[in-house]
Amino acid sequence: MLQQLFRTKAITPDTEHALSRCLSKWDLTFLGVGAIIGTGIFVLTGIAAATQSGPAVVLSFIAAGFACAFAALSYAELAAAVGGCGSAYGYSYAAFGELIAWIIGWDLLLEYAISVAAVANGWAGYFNNALAAVGFGLPEALTKAPKLGGIINLPASMIILMLMVLLIVGVKHSAKINNIMVAVKLVTIAVFISLALFNVNPENWHPFMPFGWFQTLPDGKTTGVFAGASIVFFAYVGFDAVSTAAEEAKNPQKDLPFGIVVSLIFCTAIYILVSGLLTGVVHYTDLNVSSPVAHALQLLGFNWASALVATGVIAGLTTVMLVLYYGLTRVIFAMARDGLLPEFFNDVNEKTQTPVRVIVMCGVIMAIIAGFIPLGDLAELVNIGTLAAFVLVCFGVIVLRFTQPNLTRPFRSPYSPLFPGLGMISCSALMAFLPAQTWWRFLIWLAIGMVFYFAYSKSHSKLELAAQNHP
Ligand code: ALA
Repeated sequence: MLQQLFRTKAITPDTEHALSRCLSKWDLTFLGVGAIIGTGIFVLTGIAAATQSGPAVVLSFIAAGFACAFAALSYAELAAAVGGCGSAYGYSYAAFGELIAWIIGWDLLLEYAISVAAVANGWAGYFNNALAAVGFGLPEALTKAPKLGGIINLPASMIILMLMVLLIVGVKHSAKINNIMVAVKLVTIAVFISLALFNVNPENWHPFMPFGWFQTLPDGKTTGVFAGASIVFFAYVGFDAVSTAAEEAKNPQKDLPFGIVVSLIFCTAIYILVSGLLTGVVHYTDLNVSSPVAHALQLLGFNWASALVATGVIAGLTTVMLVLYYGLTRVIFAMARDGLLPEFFNDVNEKTQTPVRVIVMCGVIMAIIAGFIPLGDLAELVNIGTLAAFVLVCFGVIVLRFTQPNLTRPFRSPYSPLFPGLGMISCSALMAFLPAQTWWRFLIWLAIGMVFYFAYSKSHSKLELAAQNHP
């Protein structure tokens, strides 16, 4: 029994259900940037600065960036050596065996699906504001979840259904659109940086650390630079999505590490710059709004730039959803291919060369979640799930170095086991800074996953069936 749960999967490519290989290393890098820069920098920076970190939000970004850097190096090593489109799920199958792989796969489903729904809510906020600005505002009941006094957040649901169609049409088309939207997003960031650079008032950086490093408030909420880090960590969620494109990469062994590392370095630099400038041009107490970057430009009197940035953010958040949605479908596809999820999803449509059933199922479920559950409830869950996945990926690097020392590793995380070890410690620390309620929700999700595993997956696992046929 125990042997079965921890039986590892051999590291071999699956050719039977091959996806079409069409993504270059720059497509992958843009895929990373498309997923990374989004709600985190455009929305959460302001909220974290105002309520948790003050101007020291830049330190929160650096702290979260460090944890991600170690995790990214581990991701890059495993993506190149183990491959497969299942991301951390596939790596843990090779390193730890089926049970842990299931847990991490189930965890990734939470990360990706809830991220898409959460970002769709943020997108809908900007979109509704833009509609209202041109005189076509929707009735309030159609822009809010029932818990917030509305009927449905219709734009949030609709954008997910539109992305669903885009993904069905095929990945190359989506990658092209993704590249254009990423460019738009970068231009808007450049506009903000170039205007903010000349309008910094150093007075705004005092006091620099008004909430200290870390403290738990009487209501259970957390505050301080490290609590801020565990929130703005959301800004980094998504670089791992690059690894889910392994089977569509032209040259995965070289290009995946490139895409993961380059996109993360690039985004970290942007975050440090933008968060530093944002708290430099406006006092941190003015940043607790839903569109802090556009708001800051408005306060500076640049109304045209504020509108431009808002438009860019709408495009930017679209790419985030697109890449995370893409990642989600690939993880499900990989799990179904291993027999842990029903065979029904293990299918590539002949015409479009994409896993259409998975795309449709995810799209409908996420559209419902995004329409009926508010952003706050969704966003809380994402970080803890992602951090848990990162801890296991780092651990996977250490385990595989011992269990499979001769495995070909086109990319090696430097200073192993030190760097992966630091990744485990820093990601665990960020998890510890999250509130208790978030932990409970996460544990309930994992418990549901365990029930599913023992009721279905364990007996349908391809590995198990193969072992029964060849004992
Ligand atoms: N990193 C992505 C964002 O900030 C999820 O929106």
